[in-house]
Amino acid sequence: MTLRLGDTAPDFTAPSTQGEIRFHDWIADSWAIFFSHPKDFTPVCTTELGAVAKLKGEFDKRGVKILGLSVDGVEDHEGWSRDIEATQGVKLNFPLIADKTRAVAEAYDMIHPNAEATQTVRSVFVIDNQKKVRLSLTYPASTGRNFDELLRVVDSLKLTSNNSVATPANWKHGDDVIILAALSDEQAREKFPNGWRAERPYLRYVPDPSAGARKSS
Ligand code: BEZ
Repeated sequence: MTLRLGDTAPDFTAPSTQGEIRFHDWIADSWAIFFSHPKDFTPVCTTELGAVAKLKGEFDKRGVKILGLSVDGVEDHEGWSRDIEATQGVKLNFPLIADKTRAVAEAYDMIHPNAEATQTVRSVFVIDNQKKVRLSLTYPASTGRNFDELLRVVDSLKLTSNNSVATPANWKHGDDVIILAALSDEQAREKFPNGWRAERPYLRYVPDPSAGARKSS
């Protein structure tokens, strides 16, 4: 099934390196990043899991739980975790789903048969605290993902969910943001009484309302 933005992330129960995970219960009131790996004991995946483990504190600050998936079993995952710690210098500090039946991978459309029949591609889903899919990305097996970009996306999603703003190209936390085009100047004056910098009537910048604050909701 193709998952689209705004869809409810499919629930599942599956074994992991931290015991059985009931996905919706596990997310609880947090946000989540759920991402797939083609196979255990592969080089790019090894570097990716190390990179995410190093960023775990940043995801924690933002109230985002991390969950990985590979179609190998828990025993392989545990052996691989030792390799990740030895080569990447960091412990695997989040659960990795063991999806041997590929049931979860199929529910999330993580297997793209024209790319590879049995392994997953590199999918990423950002899921919010209502269990809705807020972002999906698909990378090929040969290209490791940029996990700093996921932190940036989470900052944008949380900011734009709670304010009448959008974030421009290459925006990062603290940069100016754009007032939604749907807001008339009159409506904008109520929300942004300090005014804005208009480069065009539809391109109105205000300072990042979240600058200086980092809430985990
Ligand atoms: C890797 O993680 O290095 C990898 C996995 C599957 C195919 C190609 C590369």
